[in-house]
Amino acid sequence: MKYYEIPNSNLIVSKLALGCMRLAELSFEEAEKLIYTAREWGINVFDHADIYGNGKSETIFGEVLKKNPTLRKQIIIQTKCGIKEGYYDSSEEHILASVNASLERLNTDYLDVLLIHRPDALTDFSEVAKAFKILRGEKKVKFFGVSNMNSIQIEILQKHLPNKLIFNQLHFNVVHSLMIDEIFNVNIANDYAVNRTGDILDYMRINDITMQAWSPLQISLTKGTYLDHPDYLKLNQKLHEIGTKYGISPAAVAVAWILRHPAQIQVVVGTTKPASLRELVKAVDIELTKEEWYDLYLSVGKKLP
Ligand SMILES: NC(=O)c1ccc[n+]([C@@H]2O[C@H](COP(=O)([O-])OP(=O)(O)OC[C@H]3O[C@@H](n4cnc5c(N)ncnc54)[C@H](OP(=O)(O)O)[C@@H]3O)[C@@H](O)[C@H]2O)c1
Repeated sequence: MKYYEIPNSNLIVSKLALGCMRLAELSFEEAEKLIYTAREWGINVFDHADIYGNGKSETIFGEVLKKNPTLRKQIIIQTKCGIKEGYYDSSEEHILASVNASLERLNTDYLDVLLIHRPDALTDFSEVAKAFKILRGEKKVKFFGVSNMNSIQIEILQKHLPNKLIFNQLHFNVVHSLMIDEIFNVNIANDYAVNRTGDILDYMRINDITMQAWSPLQISLTKGTYLDHPDYLKLNQKLHEIGTKYGISPAAVAVAWILRHPAQIQVVVGTTKPASLRELVKAVDIELTKEEWYDLYLSVGKKLP
């Protein structure tokens, strides 16, 4: 495994994080094996949300921690709050209630990182600041970040906070690559030139906010993975070709595509299978050539201007 030092924190994080969204589908024994496989391969960040499996993902993780108490100090636990059934809620009351419930489920007295899961149009930023201050003061949360936010949304939230936000978690992969499309299509009259993220990638680099890429293998949460998907034949052919060259799986090549970007993106992988996780970890030892990186990008059907 290789690691990043996260600016404005004392965190040293593995380049891959284990996303725990699908943990709710596993038995206790399966979850424990997956978590220990992650540890064995150097993964030290575990990404949760209060809503994953309606809390069950955190509960299973908490049971594993309870059985293995020495694990807590070795790892970085991150969770998110702000999504409720049918609406978003970043009020002080909800943030505090959600964190207290997550701590209880996770069997821990502190979170290393808390993210606001999605922008809430009705956010009162001073309330978020107040909630963060209370959580930090009570030593319940060490660092804060956001998810699915654009640059101006981060800017306005940051304006109210005494400490820097350290992460922004966004959907990003070779198929879902709006942040890259925007880079190439400046001042060009096509759909790719529509700036849908507020230059978020460059904004994060300027402001030392680390991007975490969620769903690195999914077209979208409803469409499933692009691996072996009939709509992405050329991409899959390239993933196989490059995988054969480096002796890694096509899925690991897809992860290596994200890691090749110089922004030091952390990849939040969501497999539930220890064997697949072991394969994905091999991505950190590969540096794709520029030609391979562009080939993969273009194999999805995109064109350079
Ligand atoms: N911030 C947000 O809004 C947000 C949204 C969604 C997710 N997330 C975070 O991102 C994490 C990852 O999301 P994700 O689970 O969608 O990630 P992913 O790694 O893109 O997808 C994992 C899924 O792909 C399947 N898969 C198929 N072939 C695979 C292969 N060869 N290797 C690995 N997996 C393969 C896995 O099945 P198997 O389990 O059978 O391997 C699993 O169902 C989540 O756990 C969560 O922590 C955040």
